[in-house]
Amino acid sequence: MSEKKTGLAPVITVAIQKGGSAKTTLAVNLAAELGAQGFNVLLIDVDPQANASTHVCVAHPSTLSKNSSVLFRGSLEEIMESIQIETNPGFENVHLIPGSLELDQSVEEALRNYSPRPYEEMRRRIEMLREAYDVIIIDTPPSLRLLTGNALAASTHYIVPIETSSQYPLYGVADLTAFINRIKESINPELINIGVLISRHDERRRACKAIFETVQEKIGNILPMVIHAGAKVGEASIARMPIRKLEKDGKVAKDFEELARYLIDKLGLEQHNQEAIGN
Ligand SMILES: Nc1ncnc2c1ncn2[C@@H]1O[C@H](COP(=O)(O)OP(=O)(O)OP(=O)(O)O)[C@@H](O)[C@H]1O
Ligand SMILES: [Mg+2]
Repeated sequence: MSEKKTGLAPVITVAIQKGGSAKTTLAVNLAAELGAQGFNVLLIDVDPQANASTHVCVAHPSTLSKNSSVLFRGSLEEIMESIQIETNPGFENVHLIPGSLELDQSVEEALRNYSPRPYEEMRRRIEMLREAYDVIIIDTPPSLRLLTGNALAASTHYIVPIETSSQYPLYGVADLTAFINRIKESINPELINIGVLISRHDERRRACKAIFETVQEKIGNILPMVIHAGAKVGEASIARMPIRKLEKDGKVAKDFEELARYLIDKLGLEQHNQEAIGN
C-alpha cells in the first residue's frame, strides 16, 4: 500500500558501512530505472570515492568545481551550481550532485569542529531540492560517520543492501542498526526502513543460499525481490552506463525494474515535479 504523499520528494539513502556491499550499484541503477520511467531523479554522492559520480556524470568528478560538500556547508547558490545535468547515456532524467575527495579531507573535520549540529547540516539544505525533484537517492561511503549520519538525518527512507556472495554479510549490521536508531531518536524520528535488499545473489551457490537464510533469520525485513549476481554489472560501470542499457533483457536489469516498481508503489512516487532544475 502507498504511504501518504507530502508533495516533497522522498529521499532514499543507501547505507551499510561494509565496503563493497553493492551500495553504489544499487543507487546508480535504481536512479537510471526511475529516470527511464519518467521520474526526475537527483542522485547525491556523499562518498569521497565518488564511484557513483564517475559512473553517471559526463565530466570526471575531479574536474568539477562544486561537489556535495556544499550540502554540508554551502549556500543555496553553491548547491544549485553543484548540480550536474549532463549525465551519461542511459541516465535520462537523472541529475547528480557529485562526490569528491574534499568530503574526506575537510568536510568531516569542519563539521566536527565548527558545526553546532554536525549531523543536521544536510537536512536543512536538502529541503528545496525536495521540491524540485520526484525522488532523491543518496549513495554513502562505507563508514558510519558524519557523512552517512547527515544523509540518514536528511532522508525519509533508507535501504540496506547485503550481498550474499560475501563471507561476512552480517558484519557490522548491529552497529548500523544502533547508529540509525540514534539518528532516529535524536534528529529524524520519521525515517523509514525500506528493508534489506539481497544483492549479488546466486541461488545456485550453496554459500549464497546459506547467507540468505542467515540474513532472513538474524535481520529479517528482506525485500520481496533480489538483485542477482551478473557478469555484466562490473562491465556496465566501466562502460559508465546502467545495466538496463548494457543488457536490457538480462536478469539484473529485470531485478532493478522490479525494485523500481515496488518502490513506486510503496513510496507512492509521483511525477509531479516537472519543473526540475535544468529541464
Ligand atoms: N549484482 C551484482 N553482480 C555482480 N557484481 C556486482 C553486483 N553488484 C555489485 N557488484 C560488484 O561488486 C563490487 C562492489 O559494488 P559497489 O561498488 O556497488 O559496492 P559499494 O557498497 O558501493 O562499495 P563501497 O563500500 O566501496 O562504496 C563492484 O565491483 C560491483 O561491480
Ligand atoms: Mg560505493
